[in-house]
Amino acid sequence: MLMEEIIEHKRDGLTLTSEEIHFFIKNYVNGEIPDYQASALLMAIYFKGMSSYEVSILTKEMRDSGEVWDLSDIDGLKVDKHSTGGVGDKVSLVLGPMIASCGAKLAKMSGRGLGHTGGTLDKLESIPGFDIYETKEEFKKQVNEIGMAIIGQNENLDPADKKLYALRDVTATVDSIPLIASSIMSKKLASGADCILLDVKYGSGAFMKTKEEAKKLGDLMSEIGKHLNKDVRYEVTDMNEPLGYAVGNNLEIKEVIKTLHNEGPKDLTELCLNSGAIMLIQSKIYDDYDKAYEALLNNLKNGKAFNKFVEFVKYQKGDISYILDPSKFSVSKYQIPIYAEKNGKIARIDAFAIGKGSMHLGGGREVITDTIDMSAGIVLNKKVGDAVKKGELLCTLYTNKEKVEDIIKEVKEAFIY
Ligand code: URA
Repeated sequence: MLMEEIIEHKRDGLTLTSEEIHFFIKNYVNGEIPDYQASALLMAIYFKGMSSYEVSILTKEMRDSGEVWDLSDIDGLKVDKHSTGGVGDKVSLVLGPMIASCGAKLAKMSGRGLGHTGGTLDKLESIPGFDIYETKEEFKKQVNEIGMAIIGQNENLDPADKKLYALRDVTATVDSIPLIASSIMSKKLASGADCILLDVKYGSGAFMKTKEEAKKLGDLMSEIGKHLNKDVRYEVTDMNEPLGYAVGNNLEIKEVIKTLHNEGPKDLTELCLNSGAIMLIQSKIYDDYDKAYEALLNNLKNGKAFNKFVEFVKYQKGDISYILDPSKFSVSKYQIPIYAEKNGKIARIDAFAIGKGSMHLGGGREVITDTIDMSAGIVLNKKVGDAVKKGELLCTLYTNKEKVEDIIKEVKEAFIY
């Protein structure tokens, strides 16, 4: 088989065979196929697309390019959840303890933040002592014992995605629905859960800009699930404004704690209740959405979800005194209030601009090697739909940086009246 023929087939809009896809992934990962040929194929896929069958084969080959974790010795069904990425998205940290407190098993690997989006691992690491690196054995033991674990992406998982993603990043082929779907699903499938809930975001802070595109991506990922015998469901959610009020690592952990005390933002709480109800159904703990929703809400009200979070943080060596007393978290040296410059109603809060603003304040990374200031970020005071008067507080910037005039301007422009 020749790589140039595979490129030619896709260029001409043909359906690739499973043998061709196998040949490509195997030989690209082992270095036999050079980047220039892989790039040409990616671009052909970008323009010609792939059938759901082709994407399923691609996903399976990518999954099998590295270790595939077998979690069958954890009792019961294991659920996982993945968000396609947003700003202020701390859902997993609220949702995990909520569903685990109802008996579900969350076995989750998470990533780090890059660019305007934050990462669950970074947020967790803002809790002093928190350990994200565990072996498979420790991971399984923890899920078995307390019902949840969130750890870093194992290095040996899905090497095909690591190589392909880096190549897509520099060849303008990231925003291709078949390539995004196979990238997300291959990693999720390699980490071994039985059921997966996908939160497909759309809007300015998300990969998918419109609801229709997000739905297409969700449909394709659940098709892949069907082909590969996994219960994959998805929800399409709005990322036209940040989720909740807090953006930035320890600022978001404080909001997680509030939400687990049932005093959190409405949009975040609602998304967690909805996602949790679906996951409890996937876990076969409930077969009725309303009953699952009610159980989750009860555990927010009676403290069981919060207690599960404390248990989880303790298990992964985090200092729970911060969870019990969030005023212990470090606070940035500078807190800069931003006030409304006119009367009006907030029509949009550009999530992309807020995410970038938080990153520039020190709360995120421009490149993966940057270090993060755990206390930096932005806390909104207004949400979309709120009326504001000139001079009212819109948000507060938290930073240890001295020169932030450009960031102030950038954040002000994020508020559309
Ligand atoms: N997230 C991923 O893991 N892969 C993509 O291609 C896009 C978002």
